[in-house]
Amino acid sequence: MVSLVLPRKIIYNADSLEELLNLSRGYGLKNILIITDKVIRSTDYFKKIEEGLAKNGINVRLYYDISPEPNIETVNNIYEFVKGENIDLIVAIGGGSVIDVSKVLRVKLLRPDLKSEDISPFVSLNLENKFPLLVTIPTTAGTGSDASFAFVLKIKENNYEIKYASGNYDLVPYESILDINFLKTLPKKQLIITAIDGLANDIEGIVSINSNPLSEGIAIQSARMFFKYLPKVVENKDDEESLNYLHLAATLSGIAFSNSGVGLVHAIAHPLGSLFNIPHGMAVAIVMPYVINFNYKDKNAGKMYDEIKIALEQLDGFEIKKNLTEHLLDLYNKIGQPKKLSEIAIDEKTYKSSIDKIADLALRDPDLAFNPISPTIDEIKDILNKIY
Ligand SMILES: [Fe+2]
Repeated sequence: MVSLVLPRKIIYNADSLEELLNLSRGYGLKNILIITDKVIRSTDYFKKIEEGLAKNGINVRLYYDISPEPNIETVNNIYEFVKGENIDLIVAIGGGSVIDVSKVLRVKLLRPDLKSEDISPFVSLNLENKFPLLVTIPTTAGTGSDASFAFVLKIKENNYEIKYASGNYDLVPYESILDINFLKTLPKKQLIITAIDGLANDIEGIVSINSNPLSEGIAIQSARMFFKYLPKVVENKDDEESLNYLHLAATLSGIAFSNSGVGLVHAIAHPLGSLFNIPHGMAVAIVMPYVINFNYKDKNAGKMYDEIKIALEQLDGFEIKKNLTEHLLDLYNKIGQPKKLSEIAIDEKTYKSSIDKIADLALRDPDLAFNPISPTIDEIKDILNKIY
């Protein structure tokens, strides 16, 4: 069986206020809960949306105390803040953290009997089309969380906070509104690393052993857009056409990877990122070229990578290169993306003494199950040595 799960509607080049008002009129929505963070909340564009909704007779509840790496407690706090208020729409305006919290909150409002930690792909939630609906307005171009069924939140386990990643198809948002006005406020560095994470989701997704022709087609289209439009946006942040395509590429990558899974890049980037406090997109960016070279050994994976390479060269007019890795490194040169850990001030001694631990954790990371080749611990260590 092959299936593809995605939001009911994706609207790009959108005006957030106009789209929220359309939705409210269409469904007769009266009580909206907006979940966002402090930075977004302080922007003029956010205020315009909040005031516009109020002017049109909509009750707006606002929660903006979301940290970059929220935990389950955050969900419980918002639940206490709005329970019993008949919220009929949740609007998540933010990056992956805000959207992930909103997904889990919606489940909590509809299924208070269920512990958030018990949400998994294997429980049947039956929440499709139930109110509150969840609408997302992503403010980064990379997490793809606005189109995916997955979430990552911190939970407490034996006095430690660990990252808990899970998902369920009923968590896929109802609608994703892609409005570049928020994207414009994102610092260039953050724009680059979130976009590279999106591209990694595509590149990992097409070679995943769980991919299918639907997810592959979307991933290839999304990857082409990242290759084409990310350098243009880095060169000129006011290039609205390119910003729109970049935003769309990110959402498409969310659909692709949440239907295919990712692989070895993410399996290594997770422990590397958490042990050395490296942002997820940066860790992914540094690991990716080496994992592509490693996976090229698998004939089918090589063919899939070459589909992106050939599309870039024959359809998009890119210079002919030896393989996809060369195109990726060329992209890094264009956008100023570091290629080695030594370039981002990671101490060599500390890093080298942690390689065994990172390799061990990578080998146990659930994302590894989807990689086209099962690496040995020595092969992972070899990649970890190369990336410094
Ligand atoms: Fe990622």
